[in-house]
Amino acid sequence: MDTKGKLLALLEEKKGEFISGEAIAGKLSISRTAVWKAVKSLRADGYRIEAVQNRGYSLDINSDILSVQGIEKYLGKDCRNLKLNVYQCVTSTNALLRDLANSGAEEGYVIVSSEQTMGRGRLGRKFYSPSDTGVYMSILLRPRNISPEKATGITTMAAVAACEAIEKTSGISAGIKWVNDIYIEGKKVSGILSEAVLDLENGCLDYVVLGIGINVYPPEGGFPEDIKNIAGAVFSQHQRDGKNRLAAEFLNSFMDIYYNDTSDYSDRYRSRSLAIGREIKIISSADDNVKFAKAIDVDSECRLVVQYPDGRIDKLSSGEISIRFL
Ligand code: BTN
Repeated sequence: MDTKGKLLALLEEKKGEFISGEAIAGKLSISRTAVWKAVKSLRADGYRIEAVQNRGYSLDINSDILSVQGIEKYLGKDCRNLKLNVYQCVTSTNALLRDLANSGAEEGYVIVSSEQTMGRGRLGRKFYSPSDTGVYMSILLRPRNISPEKATGITTMAAVAACEAIEKTSGISAGIKWVNDIYIEGKKVSGILSEAVLDLENGCLDYVVLGIGINVYPPEGGFPEDIKNIAGAVFSQHQRDGKNRLAAEFLNSFMDIYYNDTSDYSDRYRSRSLAIGREIKIISSADDNVKFAKAIDVDSECRLVVQYPDGRIDKLSSGEISIRFL
Protein backbone atom coordinates (compact mmCIF):
# COMPACT_ATOMS: atom_id res chain seq x y z
CA MET A 1 0.00 0.00 0.00
CA ASP A 2 1.36 3.46 -0.86
CA THR A 3 1.61 6.38 1.59
CA LYS A 4 -1.74 7.81 0.56
CA GLY A 5 -3.44 4.45 1.10
CA LYS A 6 -1.81 3.98 4.49
CA LEU A 7 -2.86 7.47 5.57
CA LEU A 8 -6.43 6.79 4.46
CA ALA A 9 -6.46 3.56 6.49
CA LEU A 10 -5.36 5.52 9.60
CA LEU A 11 -7.93 8.27 9.05
CA GLU A 12 -10.73 5.77 8.34
CA GLU A 13 -9.86 3.85 11.50
CA LYS A 14 -10.17 7.02 13.61
CA LYS A 15 -12.82 8.75 11.51
CA GLY A 16 -14.07 11.97 13.10
CA GLU A 17 -11.11 12.12 15.50
CA PHE A 18 -7.94 14.18 15.16
CA ILE A 19 -4.58 12.48 14.69
CA SER A 20 -1.51 14.69 15.00
CA GLY A 21 0.77 15.14 12.01
CA GLU A 22 3.62 13.95 14.20
CA ALA A 23 1.81 10.73 15.17
CA ILE A 24 0.95 10.03 11.51
CA ALA A 25 4.52 10.74 10.40
CA GLY A 26 5.82 8.39 13.12
CA LYS A 27 3.39 5.58 12.28
CA LEU A 28 4.04 5.74 8.56
CA SER A 29 7.79 6.50 8.93
CA ILE A 30 7.55 9.53 6.68
CA SER A 31 8.20 13.27 7.06
CA ARG A 32 5.45 15.70 8.06
CA THR A 33 5.75 17.29 4.63
CA ALA A 34 5.00 13.89 3.09
CA VAL A 35 1.93 13.64 5.38
CA TRP A 36 0.70 17.01 4.16
CA LYS A 37 1.24 16.00 0.52
CA ALA A 38 -0.76 12.80 1.04
CA VAL A 39 -3.56 14.79 2.75
CA LYS A 40 -3.71 17.12 -0.26
CA SER A 41 -3.86 14.19 -2.62
CA LEU A 42 -6.73 12.57 -0.66
CA ARG A 43 -8.56 15.90 -0.66
CA ALA A 44 -8.19 16.01 -4.44
CA ASP A 45 -9.96 12.62 -4.50
CA GLY A 46 -12.91 14.15 -2.66
CA TYR A 47 -12.09 13.27 0.97
CA ARG A 48 -13.03 16.00 3.41
CA ILE A 49 -10.06 16.20 5.76
CA GLU A 50 -9.88 18.93 8.36
CA ALA A 51 -6.45 20.26 9.33
CA VAL A 52 -6.22 22.15 12.64
CA GLN A 53 -3.04 23.51 14.13
CA ASN A 54 -1.90 21.64 17.26
CA ARG A 55 -4.56 18.97 16.73
CA GLY A 56 -3.69 17.43 13.39
CA TYR A 57 -5.92 15.87 10.76
CA SER A 58 -9.42 14.46 10.90
CA LEU A 59 -11.49 12.72 8.23
CA ASP A 60 -15.07 14.01 8.16
CA ILE A 61 -17.25 11.56 10.07
CA ASN A 62 -19.84 11.72 7.26
CA SER A 63 -17.47 10.96 4.42
CA ASP A 64 -18.60 7.81 2.58
CA ILE A 65 -16.38 7.28 -0.42
CA LEU A 66 -15.91 3.65 -1.43
CA SER A 67 -12.33 2.59 -0.80
CA VAL A 68 -10.30 -0.50 0.04
CA GLN A 69 -9.52 1.02 3.45
CA GLY A 70 -13.13 2.02 4.12
CA ILE A 71 -14.37 -1.49 3.33
CA GLU A 72 -11.53 -3.35 5.03
CA LYS A 73 -12.17 -1.86 8.42
CA TYR A 74 -15.48 -3.78 8.55
CA LEU A 75 -14.24 -7.10 7.14
CA GLY A 76 -14.14 -10.24 9.27
CA LYS A 77 -12.00 -13.37 9.24
CA ASP A 78 -13.62 -15.10 6.26
CA CYS A 79 -12.53 -12.21 4.06
CA ARG A 80 -8.83 -12.21 4.89
CA ASN A 81 -7.88 -13.81 1.55
CA LEU A 82 -9.86 -11.39 -0.58
CA LYS A 83 -7.99 -9.07 -2.91
CA LEU A 84 -10.00 -5.86 -2.99
CA ASN A 85 -9.77 -3.33 -5.81
CA VAL A 86 -11.88 -0.19 -5.77
CA TYR A 87 -12.49 2.09 -8.75
CA GLN A 88 -14.33 5.34 -9.30
CA CYS A 89 -15.87 4.29 -12.61
CA VAL A 90 -15.71 1.18 -14.80
CA THR A 91 -17.77 -0.18 -17.69
CA SER A 92 -18.96 -3.24 -15.76
CA THR A 93 -17.30 -4.87 -12.76
CA ASN A 94 -18.44 -8.28 -14.07
CA ALA A 95 -16.94 -7.66 -17.52
CA LEU A 96 -13.66 -6.45 -16.03
CA LEU A 97 -13.39 -9.39 -13.69
CA ARG A 98 -14.15 -11.91 -16.43
CA ASP A 99 -11.20 -10.52 -18.40
CA LEU A 100 -8.98 -10.88 -15.33
CA ALA A 101 -10.29 -14.40 -14.67
CA ASN A 102 -9.44 -15.38 -18.25
CA SER A 103 -5.89 -14.14 -17.60
CA GLY A 104 -5.61 -16.33 -14.51
CA ALA A 105 -6.71 -14.11 -11.60
CA GLU A 106 -7.24 -16.13 -8.44
CA GLU A 107 -10.34 -16.84 -6.39
CA GLY A 108 -11.10 -13.96 -4.07
CA TYR A 109 -10.26 -11.17 -6.51
CA VAL A 110 -12.89 -8.47 -5.92
CA ILE A 111 -13.72 -5.39 -7.98
CA VAL A 112 -15.84 -2.63 -6.50
CA SER A 113 -16.86 0.52 -8.35
CA SER A 114 -18.76 3.70 -7.50
CA GLU A 115 -20.20 3.86 -11.01
CA GLN A 116 -20.67 1.66 -14.09
CA THR A 117 -21.19 2.94 -17.60
CA MET A 118 -22.35 -0.44 -18.95
CA GLY A 119 -23.72 -2.24 -15.90
CA ARG A 120 -25.16 -5.61 -16.88
CA GLY A 121 -28.36 -7.14 -15.55
CA ARG A 122 -29.98 -10.55 -15.93
CA LEU A 123 -31.41 -11.71 -19.24
CA GLY A 124 -29.34 -9.22 -21.23
CA ARG A 125 -30.83 -6.18 -19.51
CA LYS A 126 -28.89 -3.10 -18.39
CA PHE A 127 -28.33 -2.33 -14.73
CA TYR A 128 -28.62 1.35 -13.90
CA SER A 129 -25.40 2.23 -12.04
CA PRO A 130 -25.13 5.99 -11.41
CA SER A 131 -22.14 7.50 -9.60
CA ASP A 132 -21.71 7.71 -5.84
CA THR A 133 -25.10 6.40 -4.73
CA GLY A 134 -24.59 2.66 -5.15
CA VAL A 135 -22.18 -0.20 -4.67
CA TYR A 136 -21.34 -2.26 -7.76
CA MET A 137 -19.20 -5.24 -6.93
CA SER A 138 -17.98 -8.50 -8.45
CA ILE A 139 -16.21 -11.42 -6.78
CA LEU A 140 -14.21 -14.08 -8.59
CA LEU A 141 -14.90 -17.63 -7.38
CA ARG A 142 -13.24 -20.80 -8.53
CA PRO A 143 -15.28 -23.48 -6.78
CA ARG A 144 -13.52 -26.81 -7.17
CA ASN A 145 -15.41 -29.73 -8.68
CA ILE A 146 -18.83 -28.18 -8.61
CA SER A 147 -21.28 -28.97 -11.39
CA PRO A 148 -22.93 -26.08 -13.25
CA GLU A 149 -26.25 -26.98 -11.60
CA LYS A 150 -24.78 -26.52 -8.16
CA ALA A 151 -23.41 -23.14 -9.21
CA THR A 152 -26.91 -21.70 -9.07
CA GLY A 153 -26.41 -22.02 -5.30
CA ILE A 154 -23.91 -19.17 -5.52
CA THR A 155 -26.63 -16.78 -6.63
CA THR A 156 -29.01 -17.81 -3.88
CA MET A 157 -26.21 -17.63 -1.28
CA ALA A 158 -25.58 -14.09 -2.52
CA ALA A 159 -29.26 -13.20 -2.17
CA VAL A 160 -29.20 -14.29 1.48
CA ALA A 161 -25.95 -12.41 2.06
CA ALA A 162 -27.39 -9.24 0.48
CA CYS A 163 -30.44 -9.35 2.76
CA GLU A 164 -28.30 -9.98 5.82
CA ALA A 165 -25.96 -7.12 4.95
CA ILE A 166 -28.87 -4.74 4.44
CA GLU A 167 -30.55 -5.83 7.66
CA LYS A 168 -27.35 -5.56 9.72
CA THR A 169 -26.47 -2.15 8.33
CA SER A 170 -29.91 -0.54 8.22
CA GLY A 171 -32.10 -2.54 10.61
CA ILE A 172 -34.67 -2.83 7.78
CA SER A 173 -36.00 -6.27 6.72
CA ALA A 174 -35.26 -7.23 3.13
CA GLY A 175 -37.13 -9.81 1.03
CA ILE A 176 -36.09 -11.94 -1.94
CA LYS A 177 -38.12 -12.09 -5.12
CA TRP A 178 -37.13 -15.45 -6.52
CA VAL A 179 -34.47 -15.93 -7.60
CA ASN A 180 -32.20 -13.06 -6.80
CA ASP A 181 -33.85 -9.65 -6.62
CA ILE A 182 -33.76 -7.96 -3.24
CA TYR A 183 -36.70 -5.83 -2.20
CA ILE A 184 -37.47 -3.39 0.59
CA GLU A 185 -41.05 -2.25 0.98
CA GLY A 186 -42.03 -3.25 -2.56
CA LYS A 187 -39.02 -1.67 -4.28
CA LYS A 188 -36.02 -3.46 -5.79
CA VAL A 189 -32.87 -2.26 -4.05
CA SER A 190 -30.39 -4.84 -5.26
CA GLY A 191 -29.82 -7.27 -8.13
CA ILE A 192 -27.42 -10.16 -8.55
CA LEU A 193 -25.87 -11.52 -11.73
CA SER A 194 -23.57 -14.52 -11.59
CA GLU A 195 -21.80 -15.53 -14.76
CA ALA A 196 -20.31 -19.03 -14.89
CA VAL A 197 -17.66 -20.22 -17.31
CA LEU A 198 -17.21 -23.96 -17.94
CA ASP A 199 -14.02 -25.92 -18.25
CA LEU A 200 -14.86 -27.89 -21.39
CA GLU A 201 -12.37 -30.66 -20.53
CA ASN A 202 -14.17 -31.87 -17.42
CA GLY A 203 -17.58 -30.20 -17.68
CA CYS A 204 -16.97 -28.52 -14.32
CA LEU A 205 -16.87 -24.85 -13.62
CA ASP A 206 -13.75 -22.94 -14.47
CA TYR A 207 -14.93 -19.88 -12.59
CA VAL A 208 -17.93 -17.86 -11.52
CA VAL A 209 -18.07 -14.08 -11.48
CA LEU A 210 -20.62 -13.08 -8.89
CA GLY A 211 -21.85 -9.53 -9.39
CA ILE A 212 -24.09 -7.54 -7.11
CA GLY A 213 -25.44 -4.03 -7.43
CA ILE A 214 -26.97 -2.29 -4.42
CA ASN A 215 -28.82 1.03 -4.64
CA VAL A 216 -27.60 2.48 -1.37
CA TYR A 217 -29.07 6.00 -1.76
CA PRO A 218 -31.60 7.38 -4.25
CA PRO A 219 -29.73 8.88 -7.21
CA GLU A 220 -29.66 12.64 -7.53
CA GLY A 221 -32.73 13.60 -9.57
CA GLY A 222 -34.37 10.22 -8.88
CA PHE A 223 -34.41 6.95 -10.82
CA PRO A 224 -34.98 7.11 -14.59
CA GLU A 225 -38.53 6.97 -15.89
CA ASP A 226 -38.44 3.31 -16.98
CA ILE A 227 -37.53 2.00 -13.51
CA LYS A 228 -38.84 4.67 -11.19
CA ASN A 229 -41.83 2.58 -10.10
CA ILE A 230 -39.75 -0.51 -9.43
CA ALA A 231 -36.40 0.70 -8.07
CA GLY A 232 -35.69 1.88 -4.55
CA ALA A 233 -32.71 2.47 -2.30
CA VAL A 234 -31.66 1.01 1.04
CA PHE A 235 -31.35 4.41 2.74
CA SER A 236 -33.32 7.55 2.02
CA GLN A 237 -30.65 9.74 3.64
CA HIS A 238 -26.92 9.70 4.18
CA GLN A 239 -25.68 7.12 6.73
CA ARG A 240 -22.28 6.96 8.30
CA ASP A 241 -20.16 4.63 6.13
CA GLY A 242 -23.35 3.44 4.39
CA LYS A 243 -21.66 2.28 1.18
CA ASN A 244 -18.41 0.92 2.60
CA ARG A 245 -20.24 -0.93 5.35
CA LEU A 246 -22.85 -2.47 3.05
CA ALA A 247 -20.09 -3.69 0.73
CA ALA A 248 -18.16 -5.17 3.66
CA GLU A 249 -21.14 -6.80 5.35
CA PHE A 250 -22.15 -8.39 2.06
CA LEU A 251 -18.67 -9.88 1.73
CA ASN A 252 -18.68 -11.05 5.38
CA SER A 253 -21.99 -12.80 5.03
CA PHE A 254 -21.38 -14.25 1.56
CA MET A 255 -17.88 -15.58 2.29
CA ASP A 256 -19.14 -17.17 5.50
CA ILE A 257 -21.87 -19.05 3.63
CA TYR A 258 -19.55 -19.91 0.72
CA TYR A 259 -16.54 -21.14 2.68
CA ASN A 260 -18.31 -22.74 5.59
CA ASP A 261 -21.01 -24.32 3.42
CA THR A 262 -23.60 -23.23 5.93
CA SER A 263 -26.33 -25.73 5.15
CA ASP A 264 -29.09 -23.68 6.75
CA TYR A 265 -28.77 -20.91 4.19
CA SER A 266 -31.78 -22.28 2.30
CA ASP A 267 -33.84 -21.70 5.48
CA ARG A 268 -32.51 -18.15 5.60
CA TYR A 269 -33.48 -17.80 1.93
CA ARG A 270 -36.96 -19.32 2.45
CA SER A 271 -37.77 -17.10 5.41
CA ARG A 272 -37.20 -14.04 3.21
CA SER A 273 -39.00 -15.34 0.13
CA LEU A 274 -41.58 -12.91 -1.21
CA ALA A 275 -42.95 -15.53 -3.61
CA ILE A 276 -44.29 -18.22 -1.28
CA GLY A 277 -48.09 -18.14 -1.19
CA ARG A 278 -48.37 -15.88 -4.23
CA GLU A 279 -50.03 -16.55 -7.57
CA ILE A 280 -47.34 -16.09 -10.21
CA LYS A 281 -46.76 -15.90 -13.93
CA ILE A 282 -43.71 -17.88 -15.11
CA ILE A 283 -42.02 -16.57 -18.23
CA SER A 284 -39.42 -18.56 -20.13
CA SER A 285 -37.04 -16.13 -21.80
CA ALA A 286 -36.01 -18.74 -24.40
CA ASP A 287 -39.43 -18.78 -26.09
CA ASP A 288 -41.55 -16.29 -24.08
CA ASN A 289 -43.70 -19.23 -23.01
CA VAL A 290 -45.99 -18.20 -20.14
CA LYS A 291 -47.45 -20.42 -17.41
CA PHE A 292 -49.50 -19.61 -14.36
CA ALA A 293 -48.99 -21.27 -10.98
CA LYS A 294 -49.00 -20.75 -7.24
CA ALA A 295 -45.62 -20.60 -5.48
CA ILE A 296 -45.91 -22.92 -2.49
CA ASP A 297 -42.38 -23.38 -1.15
CA VAL A 298 -38.64 -23.00 -1.64
CA ASP A 299 -36.80 -26.33 -1.32
CA SER A 300 -33.42 -27.06 0.26
CA GLU A 301 -31.69 -26.20 -3.05
CA CYS A 302 -33.57 -22.89 -3.21
CA ARG A 303 -35.69 -24.10 -6.11
CA LEU A 304 -39.13 -22.54 -6.26
CA VAL A 305 -41.82 -25.18 -5.70
CA VAL A 306 -44.93 -24.30 -7.67
CA GLN A 307 -48.34 -25.85 -8.16
CA TYR A 308 -50.13 -25.52 -11.52
CA PRO A 309 -53.92 -25.13 -11.73
CA ASP A 310 -54.21 -28.85 -12.67
CA GLY A 311 -52.58 -29.79 -9.35
CA ARG A 312 -49.17 -30.75 -10.78
CA ILE A 313 -46.17 -29.75 -8.70
CA ASP A 314 -42.94 -28.48 -10.27
CA LYS A 315 -39.60 -27.26 -8.95
CA LEU A 316 -38.10 -24.33 -10.83
CA SER A 317 -34.37 -23.68 -11.07
CA SER A 318 -33.43 -20.13 -11.97
CA GLY A 319 -32.03 -20.67 -15.49
CA GLU A 320 -33.68 -18.48 -18.05
CA ILE A 321 -36.94 -17.97 -16.23
CA SER A 322 -38.45 -14.89 -14.67
CA ILE A 323 -41.56 -14.64 -12.58
CA ARG A 324 -44.16 -11.93 -12.04
CA PHE A 325 -46.46 -11.68 -9.07
CA LEU A 326 -50.14 -11.50 -9.98
C1 BTN B 1 -30.29 -7.77 -12.25
O1 BTN B 1 -30.97 -7.23 -11.36
O2 BTN B 1 -30.74 -8.01 -13.38
C2 BTN B 1 -28.86 -8.12 -11.92
C3 BTN B 1 -28.04 -6.88 -11.76
C4 BTN B 1 -26.59 -7.16 -11.42
C5 BTN B 1 -25.80 -5.86 -11.39
C6 BTN B 1 -24.41 -6.05 -10.91
S1 BTN B 1 -23.64 -4.51 -10.55
C7 BTN B 1 -22.11 -5.29 -10.39
C8 BTN B 1 -22.02 -6.33 -11.46
N1 BTN B 1 -21.52 -5.78 -12.69
C9 BTN B 1 -22.42 -5.78 -13.67
O3 BTN B 1 -22.25 -5.32 -14.80
N2 BTN B 1 -23.56 -6.31 -13.21
C10 BTN B 1 -23.44 -6.76 -11.84
